[in-house]
Amino acid sequence: MSNLTELVSRRRSAALFEEGANGPDRNTLQALIDLAIQAPNHRLTFPWRFHVVEGADRETLGALWADEAVTKGWAPETARAREQAKLLRAPQIIFVGVVSDPDDPVRQREDQAATSAAVAQLLLLLEDAGFAGMWRTGRMVVSDAIRDALAYQPGETIEAIVYVGRRGNRTPPPRLRPPVARVVTWGLHPTPLASPTAKDAVPR
Ligand SMILES: Cc1cc2nc3c(=O)[nH]c(=O)nc-3n(C[C@H](O)[C@H](O)[C@H](O)COP(=O)(O)O)c2cc1C
Repeated sequence: MSNLTELVSRRRSAALFEEGANGPDRNTLQALIDLAIQAPNHRLTFPWRFHVVEGADRETLGALWADEAVTKGWAPETARAREQAKLLRAPQIIFVGVVSDPDDPVRQREDQAATSAAVAQLLLLLEDAGFAGMWRTGRMVVSDAIRDALAYQPGETIEAIVYVGRRGNRTPPPRLRPPVARVVTWGLHPTPLASPTAKDAVPR
């Protein structure tokens, strides 16, 4: 187990995973999700849902997704195979849903925030357990084909798509973040912060 400071500094998104390496087994992944949902959750609404897709289901879901993407004009027919292969980028893919109350905008924000907090914890926990993760979004978060295949409830939204695998010996690109002083103010009536841009970012 890692020291928290070291773990947070080490965690990186993995765009590609080690070929042929498995993700965590079901018991391990469930234990990591159990820790992830210890994240803060106002009013104890328990809004997070974790729909795990692995093995051959990834190909089936990839075909359904590619059909939808082409039919809806999100991708050209020539990109069908590329879209289908997106679900094969990792041995496991976790579609993280939020169940909230669409008529209560404050609760919706809280539930989305609680779910994002759980996803951030899950990424750290995966790293700590020797795996790697990648939080992705894009049009898949509004895919009816994916919602249908994973039995999303009415009102449940896809908050994150977490790809899980082993990093292998790939070195992630430098981590770019702005100097912290660019995003912090102290006290009342501070000078408004100018939004940092990519050119303000420094490798860590
Ligand atoms: C809400 C959210 C959505 C993201 N969606 C994508 C995505 O669709 N594609 C992608 O390549 N990365 C996505 N990312 C990952 C970021 O690109 C990544 O965190 C960023 O490049 C910083 O790298 P690091 O996580 O290694 O520090 C997403 C991250 C968050 C928080």
